Amino acid sequence: MNWTNDKISALVEPDRAHRKAYVDEDLFDLEMERIFERLWVYIGHESQVKNPGDYYLARVGRQPMMMTRDHNGEIHVLYNRCPHRGAQLCTARKGNAGRRIRCSYHAWFFDLDGRLDQIPASEGYDGTNLKMDDPEFQVQKAPRVDNYRGFWFASLAEDGPSLESHLGNSKVAFDQLIDRAPGGETEVVGECFQMVQQSNWKIFLENQLDASHPGATHESTGIAAMTIEKDMRSAGEEPPIAYGFLSDFARIGIDGWGKFGTVAHPQGHCSLEGYMGIRPDDPDTNEYVRLMYDAYGEKKAEEILGVNLHHVLVYPCLSVQPPLQQLRTIRPLGPDRTLTEIWHFRLKGAPEAIYKRALGYYYLVNSPSTMVNADDLFNWWKVQHGLESQGGDWVSFHRNAGFDVVEGEVRKSTPGSMSELPLRHMMQAWKNYMMSNGGGS
Ligand code: FES
Ligand SMILES: [Fe+2]
Repeated sequence: MNWTNDKISALVEPDRAHRKAYVDEDLFDLEMERIFERLWVYIGHESQVKNPGDYYLARVGRQPMMMTRDHNGEIHVLYNRCPHRGAQLCTARKGNAGRRIRCSYHAWFFDLDGRLDQIPASEGYDGTNLKMDDPEFQVQKAPRVDNYRGFWFASLAEDGPSLESHLGNSKVAFDQLIDRAPGGETEVVGECFQMVQQSNWKIFLENQLDASHPGATHESTGIAAMTIEKDMRSAGEEPPIAYGFLSDFARIGIDGWGKFGTVAHPQGHCSLEGYMGIRPDDPDTNEYVRLMYDAYGEKKAEEILGVNLHHVLVYPCLSVQPPLQQLRTIRPLGPDRTLTEIWHFRLKGAPEAIYKRALGYYYLVNSPSTMVNADDLFNWWKVQHGLESQGGDWVSFHRNAGFDVVEGEVRKSTPGSMSELPLRHMMQAWKNYMMSNGGGS
């Protein structure tokens, strides 16, 4: 199908979206071209390539890329493609290339910034059109690369808004991930979980701030956790705080999630306020707060810890939960396949107990093996299959539609509601990005 601007526009209404946006192969290609290969897409954190020679692979839209650190300490984002005959240069997910990257096919050598350094038996090229410094024979770089406080992004478009201006209000996600560390730094811990979801990338993003689903989808997990907590208390034991991450799903109830407001920000970003500030009154938290006071002074520390934020969606590719030091990035593989990477961070200078608490959330809620994620994945798979059918054309986002509260450049959910504001907002952003520079109407 030739997706003109008019046809794309007709897929998104103020309170519903057409199923084709989730299943159509041609639209998926357009999404890659106009969203993932144009906007700023997350590559990784600087601590993933700590040492000179380190590389880490990342997919941007349909393009295989790699983040490298050269021997001057500079970070680069390169296409993972040899300029000789096209072989992928690095195949392991991550590693250290040593002094130079060596293509395994014919042993051309490249610096970590992509510069062609050496060709074996190079006299074979004497008198030919191949010149060592010809841009055609260097590993190609992402047209634009930038970082925000150590979180690196690439845009495959030559022009467009700067990273800072694209991130806009969503910068708070990264500020919180860093500023909540008494040592003023954060770093990834170990390896991420990777998982291929059998569903469209938008279904994942929509689910993250869908307040009407946790009490229903995760009710059984919540009840199981509550039962264990009760049994432990009857036996005179205090259950670990992390169990509360699960029992909350039953404790809050199906319709109790309205107390956590959602906010729609420019550029398609969204956030969830309120839930899980993780500041209970226990010795570990109190010790952490003391360290924050020591590091920043009471006023500034309270400012940092008082930010009312649980979850930020950085459009189109990130779900960040700063109070729990988690970040998930999505890399669409097809209309019905999405790779997710789930990262966990350590706050420098914070007590080990704070790290372990967040690790509990990582394992119990966000990891591929938890009951919580399994229920989500199953729902998304079912949605994908339902939308592939001809049993209805539209996806409903009607909850509290028309009642959003406008405050300057942001819109907030109706107070006390489980509004589908974030879902409507992201779909409108999708429409705008998809139509920009589109094929005419
Ligand atoms: S394809 Fe890389 S050296 Fe030949
Ligand atoms: Fe869920």
